[in-house]
Amino acid sequence: MTRKTSGRRALAARRAGFRKALLAWYRASRRRLPWREAPSAYGTVVSEFMLQQTQVATVLPYFARWMEALPGFAALASAREEAVLRLWEGLGYYSRARNLHRLAREVAGRALPTSAAGWEELPGVGPYTAAAIASIAFGEPLACVDGNVVRILARLTRDGTPHRDGGTASRAFAPLAQELLNPSAPGDHNQAMMELGATVCLRRRPACLVCPVGDFCAAGKAGDPEAYPRLEARPTERRTVVRVWCERDGALLLHLNPKGARRLADLHELPTAEQAGLDPDQVSQGPLVARKSRSITRFRITESIHAAAPPPGKDRPGLVWVRLESLGSVALSGPHRRWTTDILGRGKR
Ligand code: ADE
Repeated sequence: MTRKTSGRRALAARRAGFRKALLAWYRASRRRLPWREAPSAYGTVVSEFMLQQTQVATVLPYFARWMEALPGFAALASAREEAVLRLWEGLGYYSRARNLHRLAREVAGRALPTSAAGWEELPGVGPYTAAAIASIAFGEPLACVDGNVVRILARLTRDGTPHRDGGTASRAFAPLAQELLNPSAPGDHNQAMMELGATVCLRRRPACLVCPVGDFCAAGKAGDPEAYPRLEARPTERRTVVRVWCERDGALLLHLNPKGARRLADLHELPTAEQAGLDPDQVSQGPLVARKSRSITRFRITESIHAAAPPPGKDRPGLVWVRLESLGSVALSGPHRRWTTDILGRGKR
C-alpha cells in the first residue's frame, strides 16, 4: 500500500467514525420535536420555513397552532391570506408566510418535488431550505450548510480563513459538509449537525466536554473553539424611526402596508411620522409614549413612539382607524402587537 492510499483510508475511516458518533448521539439525545417525531413532507416544509431565522423554542407553539388549523398542503392552498398571516403573527419575516402560502398553491394537486433542485424552484425556498426538505423528507444525500454547520466545520478543522460574511463562509465549507454527510441517513445527519450547533457547539462557551465528536475536533483539542469560524465583523448601524400614537374617539390610527410592499405587506403597524404626513422632528418633540430598541441583523433600530394629534387634511394612503376593541382581529406585525398591548395596558397615555 502506498502512503497516499493508506492516508486516504485513514481519512475515510475517520469520516466513518465521525458520522457514526454523530448519528448515535442524535438518535439517543435529540430534542423530541413534533416535526421530527411524526414526520411528513408538509410538516417538514412548514417547520423549515418557520425555522428560517427563528429559534426552535419560539417556533414550537406556532407550529402546533398551524398544523391544527392548516393540516396539509390542500388546506393551506385554500386558506385566505389573512388567516395565514394571523397564524404567523409574531414570528416576523412575514414574506415566509406568504411564500409558504404561494408554495402550497403551486404544489396543490400535483406530485411534490423530491429533489432539492425541484424544491428550489418554489417560492421562498433557498439552497439551505431545499437541502433540508429534500434530505429530511425525501432522503436526498445533500448536506445543509448554515451558520451552525459552518461553526462546527471550522472548529473541526481549526480553519482560520477569514470570511466576509455567513454566505461566503457557507459556500467555502459546502464541499467539506458534503464529504462528511452520511449517505445512508442524510436527513438525520443534517438534523444532527443542526442539533449539535444549537445545543453543544455553541457560539460562546461551547460544551466541548460533552461533545459527541470531540475526538475529531482540532479546535476542541487545542482549547480555542471560540476563535472559529473567523468572520469579519461589520460595525453596527444605528437607526431611529419616529412613530405616531394617535387615538380619536376610541379608535387608533394604523398604517396598512400595501399588498405589493417588499416587507410586511398586508400587515398593520403604528404609522411612521412620514406615513402620517407629519414632520418627524416635530412629532419627536411631542409626548413620548414608548421607546423600543431592537437589533435586526447588524442594525440597532430605535423606535420612538410619540402622541400626536390626528393628521390634518385628506386621508393619506394606507392610514386606517381601527376601533380599540377590534385591534385583536386585524393582523399587526409582532413588535407592534406587543407595543400596542403594552401601551393600552398601561391605561393612561
Ligand atoms: N433548524 C433548521 N431546520 C431545523 C430542524 N429540522 N430541526 C431543528 N432546527 C432546525
